[in-house]
Amino acid sequence: KANSDYDLSRPIPSDVGGMRSSLASYGDPHFSLFLRKVFIKGLGYTEEALSKPIIGIINTFSAFNPCHANAPQLVEACKRGILSAGGLPMEFPTISIHESFSSPTSMYLRNLMSMDTEEMIRAQPVDAVIAIGGCDKTVPAQLMGAISANKPFIPLITGPMMPGSVKGVRVGACTDCRNNWAKYRAGEIDLEDIMAVNEELAPTGGTCGVMGTASTMACIVAALGLTDLRSGATAAAVSSARLRVAEHTGTAAVTMLSKHKSGTTMTPQSILTRDSFLNAITILQAIGGSTNAIVHLMAIINRHPDPNVHSITLKDIDEIGRRTPLLIDLKPSGEGYMTDFHNAGGMLALLHTLRPSGLLREQARTYTGQTLGEMLDSTPFKSFAYSSQIIRPLAVPLYPASSLCVLRGNLAPNGCVTKASASKDRRLLKHSGPACVFANSKDLAERIDDPNLNVSKDSVLILQGIGPIGNPGMPEAGLIPIPRKLGAQGVVDMLRISDGRMSGTAGGTVVLHVSPESADPESVFGIVRDGDTITIDVEARTLSVDISHEEIKKRIAHRKESLAAHSGQGQASEAGKHLNGREDAWSDRTRMRGYRGLYERHVNQGHLGCDFDFLTWQGPGTGEGR
Ligand code: FES
Ligand code: MG
Repeated sequence: KANSDYDLSRPIPSDVGGMRSSLASYGDPHFSLFLRKVFIKGLGYTEEALSKPIIGIINTFSAFNPCHANAPQLVEACKRGILSAGGLPMEFPTISIHESFSSPTSMYLRNLMSMDTEEMIRAQPVDAVIAIGGCDKTVPAQLMGAISANKPFIPLITGPMMPGSVKGVRVGACTDCRNNWAKYRAGEIDLEDIMAVNEELAPTGGTCGVMGTASTMACIVAALGLTDLRSGATAAAVSSARLRVAEHTGTAAVTMLSKHKSGTTMTPQSILTRDSFLNAITILQAIGGSTNAIVHLMAIINRHPDPNVHSITLKDIDEIGRRTPLLIDLKPSGEGYMTDFHNAGGMLALLHTLRPSGLLREQARTYTGQTLGEMLDSTPFKSFAYSSQIIRPLAVPLYPASSLCVLRGNLAPNGCVTKASASKDRRLLKHSGPACVFANSKDLAERIDDPNLNVSKDSVLILQGIGPIGNPGMPEAGLIPIPRKLGAQGVVDMLRISDGRMSGTAGGTVVLHVSPESADPESVFGIVRDGDTITIDVEARTLSVDISHEEIKKRIAHRKESLAAHSGQGQASEAGKHLNGREDAWSDRTRMRGYRGLYERHVNQGHLGCDFDFLTWQGPGTGEGR
């Protein structure tokens, strides 16, 4: 039988998809398709298999990524779902990023992964795509790439790890990594104990088992209407429920594609509307999510070409926070682990709990074709005693509102972020004190425990130089340690401010993501000096340095002169010495090669999501975001 694909008298229908989609041109489309089939047949495929809709499966397995250890099993389960629904699964890799094996930081590589994801979705003949991911930066990178590529897309979360147990006490990465290491340093537990703890903190594959960035992003995926509500965000990586989510995702991708082909647009740009993102922000606040998720959400939102979506800013995150109670009792804000949240009913239970508050935009679309409201109607949830312990009822929240707050003021004209619910000394949420300034991480490490450091419990610890460009990748160094001499006096919390990030598993009165960052020669945060009075009022959402406008202008002008002298004369310059290396990154970035050069020339500021300007809807030339 003549194969119509090679019949030169018949045009190749472009809407059929499968091997026929996104044809690279080798002269003419018939020949391109002919060649494509030559090569894919090298893998043993038949014409019959190749006539099916193709569902790509992005496999992010890596020997360096325990958070994705179950990816091979998920791929198998996913394939089962795709085949049973009449599609052809095609698995392919992208880069894999784990928090501990991504020097200098995983954040530095997030945009690279998003570009890899976008371009491989676009390049290959896939009609729809499932992306397997879980570790902190993966889900953001995949959502960013998928929105830009805009083919029908469903994320498949790898799922949290199980908690471990040491002497009958549950432990889990990574809130307990910090707690236990602090106990060991303080001599409260010995070498044998810490070795036992090390064996148990990650007792199975899967993502960190607390409400850190990975879990936060998984819950956001459910809130965006992109995964199964009961298990998609919370089922453990090693559970059979997780494999069923994978099989379901496979069938759902084929269903989604057939809807798409029969006229209901099912691309991410169409499914994800303003309502979807406002729901995501509501959930972020209700779970007491990671501050990192704010950076990721802004990056995802700023990929979307619809002005209704990309007009969402940090201001919306703060406003939604004021109305949204914190309901989930998980570490680091509370006590439980992700498996507890799953056993309590997961995101389905949380969404049903929130429903009567009217905070959810129920008309938001989902991957099923139903609205969020219709999905909730068709999957009821009845609360039970245990569920209300982990998912607090609206009337008795863990924290009444504003778990995550956005502050502004002359110190951060474009905004900064604090997780008020994780503050350990609530008096610090309204506070004035003298600045104790560190120019960068090295300076901090050298002086923080100096017995002669001029610091008291009322001081405000300022760490400059860890912003997106100042310390490429914006490290999670924002949890500045309490100076040892104050720690010895029993001080457990101080107001700490930086242009960097903090691990989603950490807590304290910590202000992060100051924008513009200190390395920017125009930044007011960059000219703060020891002894300047810093004032924070979280209730009023303000953060300022009490110096006059004239003094600010004078210091910025002086700094620019020093910078000019510094770049003119190299490291030896007298004028540049006090700059402590902070400006090196800023001035040298035009000369950097490779990915580092691309990163430093194009990364935008924290309030925009630290994406590359040329990948955002704003486009090239908006890198510094001023
Ligand atoms: Fe991967 Fe924590 S290290 S989720
Ligand atoms: Mg993390």
